[in-house]
Amino acid sequence: MKHKFLVLKFAFSIFFIGMLSCTQDAVVKPNQLTISEGFENPMGFYNSKPTFSWKLPTSKHVKFQSAYQIVVASSEDLLPNNPDIWDSKKQESSQSTFVNYQGSELQSRQKVYWQVKYWNQDNEPSEWSEINHFELGLLKNSDWKAHWVGLDTAKDSIKGVRNFLMHRPQYLRKEFELNNQVESARLYITAKGVFDVHLNGQGVSDDVLPPGWTPYSHRIETLTYNVTNLLESGQNTLAVELASGWHSGRISRGKALYENFASPKILCQLEVTFKDGTKSTIVSDASWKGTTNGPIRLAGLYDGEVYDANLEMPKWKTNAFDDSSWKSVETENIVDSVKLEPKRHETVKTTAVLEDAEIVSATESSVVFDMKQNMVGVPKVQVPMKKGDTLSIRFSEMLLSDGTFYTENYRSAKSTDYYIAAQDGIIEYTPKFTFHGFQFVEISGFDASVSPNSNWIKGLVQHSDFEKNGTFTSSHKKLNQLQSNITWGLRGNLLDIPTDCPQRDERLGWTGDAQVISPTAMFNYDTHAFWTAWLQSMRETQTEHDDGLIPFIVPDVLQRNKASSGWGDACVIIPWDIYNITGDKTVLEANFEMAKKWVGYYQTNTKDYIPNTHSFADWLQPYPEKDGKIGNRGDTPRLFVNTAYFAHSAHLVSKIAGVLGKTDDQKKYNALYKAIAAAFEEKFFDENGKFKNKKQTQTSYLLAIYFDLLKPETKVNAQKHLLEEIKKADNHLGTGFLGTPILPKVLDDMGEIDLMYKILFKETYPSWFYSINQGATTMWERWNSYSKAKGYNPQSMNSLNHYAYGAVGQWMYERIAGLAALEPGYKKLRIAPKPNTDFLTAASASVNTPYGEASSSWKIENGIFYLETVIPPNTTAEVVIPYGKIDNLSVNGRLFEESANLKIENSDAELVKIIANPGTYKFQINYN
Ligand code: BGC
Repeated sequence: MKHKFLVLKFAFSIFFIGMLSCTQDAVVKPNQLTISEGFENPMGFYNSKPTFSWKLPTSKHVKFQSAYQIVVASSEDLLPNNPDIWDSKKQESSQSTFVNYQGSELQSRQKVYWQVKYWNQDNEPSEWSEINHFELGLLKNSDWKAHWVGLDTAKDSIKGVRNFLMHRPQYLRKEFELNNQVESARLYITAKGVFDVHLNGQGVSDDVLPPGWTPYSHRIETLTYNVTNLLESGQNTLAVELASGWHSGRISRGKALYENFASPKILCQLEVTFKDGTKSTIVSDASWKGTTNGPIRLAGLYDGEVYDANLEMPKWKTNAFDDSSWKSVETENIVDSVKLEPKRHETVKTTAVLEDAEIVSATESSVVFDMKQNMVGVPKVQVPMKKGDTLSIRFSEMLLSDGTFYTENYRSAKSTDYYIAAQDGIIEYTPKFTFHGFQFVEISGFDASVSPNSNWIKGLVQHSDFEKNGTFTSSHKKLNQLQSNITWGLRGNLLDIPTDCPQRDERLGWTGDAQVISPTAMFNYDTHAFWTAWLQSMRETQTEHDDGLIPFIVPDVLQRNKASSGWGDACVIIPWDIYNITGDKTVLEANFEMAKKWVGYYQTNTKDYIPNTHSFADWLQPYPEKDGKIGNRGDTPRLFVNTAYFAHSAHLVSKIAGVLGKTDDQKKYNALYKAIAAAFEEKFFDENGKFKNKKQTQTSYLLAIYFDLLKPETKVNAQKHLLEEIKKADNHLGTGFLGTPILPKVLDDMGEIDLMYKILFKETYPSWFYSINQGATTMWERWNSYSKAKGYNPQSMNSLNHYAYGAVGQWMYERIAGLAALEPGYKKLRIAPKPNTDFLTAASASVNTPYGEASSSWKIENGIFYLETVIPPNTTAEVVIPYGKIDNLSVNGRLFEESANLKIENSDAELVKIIANPGTYKFQINYN
């Protein structure tokens, strides 16, 4: 009996274990479902023709996808079996990213549910994924019943810096009644200006400076908020604070733009669905009331904010307020020519708080705080004050040698906030409608009887709210500081649009700066949607009348009607970079016509293939021949730069046409590129591959080589001349904005990686570490913005937070850590670190690729090279072990042998090249 029981128990456990391993064996469902440029369950979505992406799980049963099926329905209950919107049916395809939706066009407000399954390499189906959803925003102007409303603040505006008009910020409110139980409610809202909206006294969102900056005379982005839980049956109050922002502020320069400094306005439509199915809509219209007598007296992006607590209006955001003394608003119709479209990338938010300020100096009346990091955003101030006193809050990026503020580089930007106290005690204040670029904060006007405390100031870091996308670290402290400076430079300058700098009277969407930094930005942050949104603004800004001119900056508030080579080419280069990093073809489709028109702009201004257009050339190259402003353009001649970029853009347009299957254009632009290259070589290079110019520059060789503009024999010689130039500079870089990002790529292609290491690790001017040695915590505009020995660069154009030179970050990921995309979107990866033990013993990088996390991490210890790498599902990788002793190679603790997952592609005395399937591998090689 006992024995029988034991046998039974044994049989039961076998069955149970079998069951368990059966579930473990199942092909696990896909995860991380997103639509278009990486949106997860968005509300107020912008695109009626989205694409779908998902990730395969990391599992030994899932290496590749052989097929997929997507189902889309109007309700969760219909999935997966009765999808009433679209069923892709089983598609034999490995594509798991950016699959086009092919159902009928989606409509404004539509709520859509979707899920996906895949079949693995053995044609085994997965479970269906979780159900994801999205809801569209108001896609067309005709969806809006609201009017633009606001007070006429232009009438009694104030003259500010350089006599620019400053509008008084407005407080707008509307009370309304809901006589029914609310089922759901959406608030659609935007502004010509920037706003903060409240419902029944509660903030609707934590967005900073919405709706952000677009070319307002073409398009204004709208926001959608779910306000179901903020509404009450009975009386309700909508309350909006409104300020000039980009639209009506000095940053827009007040030229004949944006209706000539028109007064800010809001547009707002609250759509409520009740439990009984009826609906009600509250819109901005003539019934709204407004005042300019609220506490925010003035607010400008460049100049700061003035807040008078004596004018606070308690309860004005709630029902318990009498607005009978407020004015009626003026109204304005929406017009067809200005498109209202849902915001297509993340809003700006406060993403971090620096809480570790240090007091660096104090007098009886003022204190200076060091945030220990050059940052962008606003301070949160908690300071004791006396009634009636004015606190002034000043900012600077660095101090002068006597400890006072260096603010010359803010130029005309006042960048100062003021707070007027209404009573004695600790005040708490965070400016709302401005932002500053700073490391140091000086306050004066506080209660001098209290001794200053370092917790009086916190730093709210603000930028577009993208996720982190990658990490890079190494065994070298200064290299890690460089990575930190690069990422802080990005956070500081990706504030709704890509800006040149965050602190002076500029903060504009300079296209050249963006062009050089976008790949590095995409390694570090998930900025796919950010860039594609800005590219839409670029398309809207490209001029028709001048055959495709792309202005220097987007949005174009300078209106100079000029373009620059290396800057306007952003319209070709950025889409191409985005495609290569994400694999998303829609970015090429959307921007192809713009790119062609830009090449056309060169063509119409060309004689014998040499465009005679304007150029900032190799901006801020070190040691220019001429001094001062003229020298800012460096020594690589304008016509040279124009022709090189003309050829490069034509070449990329040909490649883009190839990807899009437009064979005629592919051939046509390839022929054009070849013709320009021939003319370029003829005009600028002699038969020995030498640049025909008295002044030789590194950048002239770099552009010619990287853009592939020389015949093979000329190129070999040009490479020698480049090396000579670098040698003459004692292994220092000699490049400005255009040459710097391609310097590592060219030297890498030439097999001169060790030289690139030497240049990168140089401590003396000009070099990346030079600014670090002078105390930089962000990238600087100039290689010599400041030095301990000589102080600040005498030119006031001297930003200490300018990201262009951070473009080396891409190479740090791709080559120092060794993680790169070999095919668009990382469908194939290259893991090929190139160590140089003179400088480093370890480096690693990880990137959240469209297929999942990939990483490459190496170290060298006691003559052994260790490489650990993660290759995500549905990709393959070329892994290059940078040592050739294949007999000494082991993987995952065993001597290396080829397997289904690891195949040798080739090996020689220098390296072993392996093709690897998805998985985690630990390679190890004794290279001695
Ligand atoms: C900006 C740049 C920009 C340059 C063009 C400067 O004022 O700050 O970064 O690219 O002008 O020359």
